[in-house]
Amino acid sequence: TRRLTQADLAKLYASGEKVSMFTCYDASFARLLDGAGVETLLIGDSLGNVIQGHDTTLPVTVADIAYHTAAVKRGSDHAFILADMPFGSYQESPEQAFRNAVTLMAAGAQMVKLEGGAEMAATVEFLTQRGIPVCGHLGLTPQSVHALGGYKVQGKGEAAAQRLRDDALLLQQAGATMLVLEAIPAALAAEVTASLNIITIGIGAGKDCSGQVLVLHDAFDIPPGKKAKFVRNFMDGASSLHDAAIRAVAAIKDGSYPAPEHTYAG
Ligand code: KIV
Ligand code: NA
Repeated sequence: TRRLTQADLAKLYASGEKVSMFTCYDASFARLLDGAGVETLLIGDSLGNVIQGHDTTLPVTVADIAYHTAAVKRGSDHAFILADMPFGSYQESPEQAFRNAVTLMAAGAQMVKLEGGAEMAATVEFLTQRGIPVCGHLGLTPQSVHALGGYKVQGKGEAAAQRLRDDALLLQQAGATMLVLEAIPAALAAEVTASLNIITIGIGAGKDCSGQVLVLHDAFDIPPGKKAKFVRNFMDGASSLHDAAIRAVAAIKDGSYPAPEHTYAG
């Protein structure tokens, strides 16, 4: 069970199979998700919320992500490891981004993710030309929550939709090999996915992305209660966390998640 590579994920994508991704922050859950067949583990800066108890991702540091990345790496044998670049660790310059990405790659990441479109294209190019695979992140970009004025659906209206289409193409041209689309209308995500030859991973972006990412604590209803519209509680009817993870992977693969009720209209 050797570890999946970027090339393996590209093969999955080329075959038309949906790519499964979970956020993960520690070795025990990494072991559990790896055992359930999850292909990609994202050490998301959502750890600021679900692990550290902050109400935004803004306080998360490179050292925090590196610590959790090393744990996830130790706990898994098979899954591809993707680490978030936290707020303030890459926006200043390509050189700053490279320096901090190196810390995450040294901790075990195989790819780093950063938020933003056109304004990040030069940085994405700088990293990818120097051996660091990059995943983009468009739509609802939580590190910009204060600029966006809250956690709201993005890409609504023709101007915003066109900006997102343009940003997606620019990121691909800059060398990004994966793109997270968060909280945008399903039709726009479908269009962007069809226009690219790299993997799109949706969260609140409808069923037509090349794959889906689930936030671990959301998928397992921790803590119990109301979640965002796009969240499905995979513990519903599951006999264990392992069983819930297997059901989640199956639902991503067969396209039953996300269903229309998890989806935003234009
Ligand atoms: O930090 C995170 O969990 C993420 C996913 C929601 C894509 O960036
Ligand atoms: Na994130």
